[in-house]
Amino acid sequence: MSAPLLETRGLTKTFGGLKAVQQIDLTVGANRIVSVIGPNGAGKTTFFNCLSGIYRPDGGTITLAGRDVTGRPPHQLCRLGLARTFQNIRLFPEMSVLENVMVAQFQHRALAPLPLLFRSAKYCAAEQAHRDEARKFLEFVELGGRANDPAGSLAYGLQRRLEIARALATQPKLLLLDEPAAGMNPQETAGMIGLISRIRDRGLAVLLIEHHMKLVMSISDEILVLDHGVPIAHGKPEAIRNDPQVIRAYLGEEIAA
Ligand SMILES: Nc1ncnc2c1ncn2[C@@H]1O[C@H](COP(=O)(O)OP(=O)(O)OP(=O)(O)O)[C@@H](O)[C@H]1O
Ligand SMILES: [Mg+2]
Repeated sequence: MSAPLLETRGLTKTFGGLKAVQQIDLTVGANRIVSVIGPNGAGKTTFFNCLSGIYRPDGGTITLAGRDVTGRPPHQLCRLGLARTFQNIRLFPEMSVLENVMVAQFQHRALAPLPLLFRSAKYCAAEQAHRDEARKFLEFVELGGRANDPAGSLAYGLQRRLEIARALATQPKLLLLDEPAAGMNPQETAGMIGLISRIRDRGLAVLLIEHHMKLVMSISDEILVLDHGVPIAHGKPEAIRNDPQVIRAYLGEEIAA
């Protein structure tokens, strides 16, 4: 049997005296949607920051497709098939929607300096191929009609879609989404559920942080619940929804909200 796409064992990150993430064991198989939920400050984003190489964990291991990648920097993890979006949108607002996607493609492009400098026929053909491919990613997230607009002119919900197109352009096997439906209305949230499902249909695995419980419960194969950095439950949506400890720590307040 092949190794799981992602595996963490005992993953731990502290900030001074604060244990932000404590002993997380998680396995994500190919083509799975796994959600990480929990109250504000539970350590969800810190967990993603460790997985994507932004933070070096203090303890534990991270394995990507059977390879120990603990402590590797973000660009290496990207090359190994891990991409992410951010809780706070990080686009180039002055650049066009299309250019924002093309920037991400550079991760996979071998650029020899001379053809680039002289813009040879071969270089121009490659450039056009990348442009066409970037347009396909935009069409996939339903932003094809906005390719030439400045990214900063898109409504908030559409910027979140553009972030996803940009992450997909790095050709990942595993996509980490940090609150992709934050600030969305019910209609936009339904659209995001559809988009995440289509990402899985492309053969990717998705690790998802979200506070929208309808979204989480409708598309997750499994859910990990964190509270004060500690995993307090892990299982299928139905079991998590009815777990008394999860209701006490998190879902009670979400349902009341
Ligand atoms: N760079 C940092 N330095 C110090 N403390 C940090 C740092 N990053 C996060 N923390 C702390 O670690 C804890 C976990 O934060 P984190 O952002 O991971 O929570 P979260 O679960 O993503 O919350 P939210 O749902 O609000 O996004 C919090 O107490 C936070 O203040
Ligand atoms: Mg967060």
